Amino acid sequence: QIMKLLLLLCFLLLHTAFSSNLLDQSSFPNDFLFGTSSSAYQYEGAYLADGKGLSNWDVFTHKPGRVVDESNGDIANDQYHRYLEDIHIMESLNVNSYRFSISWARVLPKGRFGEVNMGGINYYNNLIDALLLKGIQPFVTLWHRDIPQEIEERYGSWLSPESQKDFMHYAETCFKYFGDRVKYWATLNEPDMYVTNAYRFGVYPPARCSAYFGNCTKGDSQKEPYVVAHNMILSHAAAVHIYRTKYQKEQGGKIGISLHVDWYEPYRDCIADKLAVQRAQAFTVFWFTDPIILGKYPKEMEESLGNILPKFSSNEKKKLKQAGLDFIGINYYSTYYIKDCLHSKCEPGPGITRTEGSIQSGTEKNGIPLGKRTSINWLTDYPIGFNKILNYLKDKYSNTPMIITENGYGDIAELNSNEDLNLNDSNRIHYMEGHLDALKEAIRNGTDVRGYFVWSLLDNFEWISGFTNNFGLCYVDRTTMKRIPRLSASWYKNFIQTNTKKE
Ligand code: NOJ
Repeated sequence: QIMKLLLLLCFLLLHTAFSSNLLDQSSFPNDFLFGTSSSAYQYEGAYLADGKGLSNWDVFTHKPGRVVDESNGDIANDQYHRYLEDIHIMESLNVNSYRFSISWARVLPKGRFGEVNMGGINYYNNLIDALLLKGIQPFVTLWHRDIPQEIEERYGSWLSPESQKDFMHYAETCFKYFGDRVKYWATLNEPDMYVTNAYRFGVYPPARCSAYFGNCTKGDSQKEPYVVAHNMILSHAAAVHIYRTKYQKEQGGKIGISLHVDWYEPYRDCIADKLAVQRAQAFTVFWFTDPIILGKYPKEMEESLGNILPKFSSNEKKKLKQAGLDFIGINYYSTYYIKDCLHSKCEPGPGITRTEGSIQSGTEKNGIPLGKRTSINWLTDYPIGFNKILNYLKDKYSNTPMIITENGYGDIAELNSNEDLNLNDSNRIHYMEGHLDALKEAIRNGTDVRGYFVWSLLDNFEWISGFTNNFGLCYVDRTTMKRIPRLSASWYKNFIQTNTKKE
């Protein structure tokens, strides 16, 4: 008996040593996607080229006072004309995929109320073909904050259930024209951020909010964000449904959604703050994952919002569950402290206060930052949070596959010295190294993650922060449009080389 036990023990020890050794040799699965991430309005420029229609962002950024440096995406990175150059940079980095979004107004200038614009179709066909020629998989986001202005003007876009028809029609157009070559689709990008900024704070188009925030059109700020999100969730389901029933079998791709995902730590070690942490998750990521995966809103939202929260009919619930998703796209950047404001008073101050869900979030406690500070106030370098949220989601949603659709480091442009354009970006390397390590750990722990996309290949138009935030592995000279790789670009290249199996 003792001999048997000893043998078993030896076997177990050898087995553990052997398997961890295997993992060390190649930490990421064979067909793991390594890429960089972007979006149409932030990169393409060419805002009127070849029959493109106006988007909500074209109209919004042309009004004074919307963007901090009064810039806009008319030219952005001019990727529309320079995509071959950008693919060349990607090739030199050894990435095997590129996440970009399609500009809805480029493909359908008037949404479903007009013709398909072949100028736009040609552009994306050329981009997709050029990527594939270099062995780079296109990963397409359908909606990354921009819609044809036509839809906004007709009936207020996402505020109306009509938007579900718009999105389904747009999604189907893309599957039809590009689905033979595109094998990864994300329906929406970070809907919670959009909804909050566009319909509560009024700082994104259509700039609706309560009177309190000034410079915006007064809407029903309490209800509107939830109505918009509701239509978005049902739009996701409608697009997935079309894909599953008409295209997926033949085209063989996967479809998911990209979500803004944070990790939260309770500010104080008390029950109230721990419950507030759960509300914070409910009001961001679970707002979308719960309906799409479980067919209902999180209970924390139902409890806090009561009748303000729209309801899914039983038919819609069925549709949601049938559609589901093939992967959850994770956009993780940072971790925050969360304080309860339901039972204790929250002082106005740095950080974000959400009235619904009543939490306050911030990145430091008694002046001590959570993780390594960056020059952007919402961003801290805290990879532990990344690891924790991946493990948390694995347990909550029965290890549904995940793809990291965004993760990256940015800093305020003016801090870069004119001499070296921050080419020696050791802070970015520190961030990426830590986060990729945290990801490796999560995968080792059994989390089913299939890919990682850095935000971003190039410095780009950071929405209302304009060109004042730099997230690029490459610096972009705004006068010449020249792309200059930073140190992090070669770091990423080396990382990919040493962490993937050689043929
Ligand atoms: C998430 C958004 O999807 C992207 O558009 C933005 O530029 C990055 N975060 C950085 O803030």
